[in-house]
Amino acid sequence: MGKRIFLSPPLMNGTETEYINSAFKSNRVAPFGHNTELFERSVRNYLGCRHSLALSSGTAGIHISLRYLGVEPGDVVFCSSLTFAASCMPILYECAEPVFIDSDSDSWNMSPSALRTALERYSALGRLPKAVVVADIYGLPAKYDEILSICVEFKVPVVEDAAEALGSAYKGKMCGTYGDIGVLSFNSNKIITTSGGGMVVTDIDGATDKMKYWSAQSREPLPYYEHREIGYNYRLSDICAGIGRGQMNSIERYIERRREINGFYRREFAGYPVSFPNEIVGAKSNCWLSVILIENGVPPSMVIEALERDNIEARRCWKPMSRQPVFKDCEFFACPGADNSSVGDELFAKGLCLPSGTAMDDEDLRRIVGIVKKAIT
Ligand SMILES: Cc1ncc(COP(=O)(O)O)c(C=O)c1O
Repeated sequence: MGKRIFLSPPLMNGTETEYINSAFKSNRVAPFGHNTELFERSVRNYLGCRHSLALSSGTAGIHISLRYLGVEPGDVVFCSSLTFAASCMPILYECAEPVFIDSDSDSWNMSPSALRTALERYSALGRLPKAVVVADIYGLPAKYDEILSICVEFKVPVVEDAAEALGSAYKGKMCGTYGDIGVLSFNSNKIITTSGGGMVVTDIDGATDKMKYWSAQSREPLPYYEHREIGYNYRLSDICAGIGRGQMNSIERYIERRREINGFYRREFAGYPVSFPNEIVGAKSNCWLSVILIENGVPPSMVIEALERDNIEARRCWKPMSRQPVFKDCEFFACPGADNSSVGDELFAKGLCLPSGTAMDDEDLRRIVGIVKKAIT
């Protein structure tokens, strides 16, 4: 059996330890240290936005963004259906009601026409959502031209869940900066990692100050402990921020490598019953994960088992949130004209996430491709 190939393992570049050591030397291992400030600044500069706040996870970022936008019990929040559960779990933390919107087949992300139908319906009911959470899955940018103009028309703010899309861009603007608030994740399988962590980014003045206050248990600036609002323990430690600072030194190289890996898969599977998502006009994906659709009816689970027998990790495409038992009572708007019952169902049925780790070499890639080709033909 060959060496283990993971789906998307972290890759350290060696500079992380310098920043971690600086936190140790200055004895600032808690949140709000030098590394935290510099990590926030480097992401802000990279994305071209005004404010950033490092947090303990992307999920915390989604939660605190929804709270900032005033989501309260009984409110409606729209969310992409084809995504990881962290995009919408925080809607339940605030006892609000998620409504799921299908993907479209070109972007794989929120369908602008399904979004419009849903907004028209909820507007007629007098229950416009407090926010729309739009995910950029697998690093693919959503159709922001259309989505944002629809949301502006209905005056509903957007939380961009760019957890998987750091470094992706659409029409010359970085993912994460399309929403009124953008959320990033640095968990261990993301394009860069802090071992675990996240960040909110925004141009709204004052927003990250409020979120910073909540993320540190809403402690009042008084000489004793006073709390006037609900708070959370959501800050990132300075040690983790040090890892993030080091990782930011390599972000361009990591994206380039993930795009090369994607190109390799595309070339190798040409002529096979396999399709790939297109980059929509103006989009540049970070290719965080390379995902294929198996078009000849071979179930992705069979290919996953074949890869696993050779010690290679692969995964199914996200199972839509509209199909999750925990969200079974939530409303769902399918993409009009979807072939199957929905675009998300079709992508789930055929989709396979291939190993995409930055450190893989061509021999690893040839091993993977050989097994997949055999399994699907
Ligand atoms: C689309 C999406 N949203 C949110 C998250 C949550 O990020 P975290 O794991 O940092 O909480 C993730 C990653 O896990 C994700 O893939």
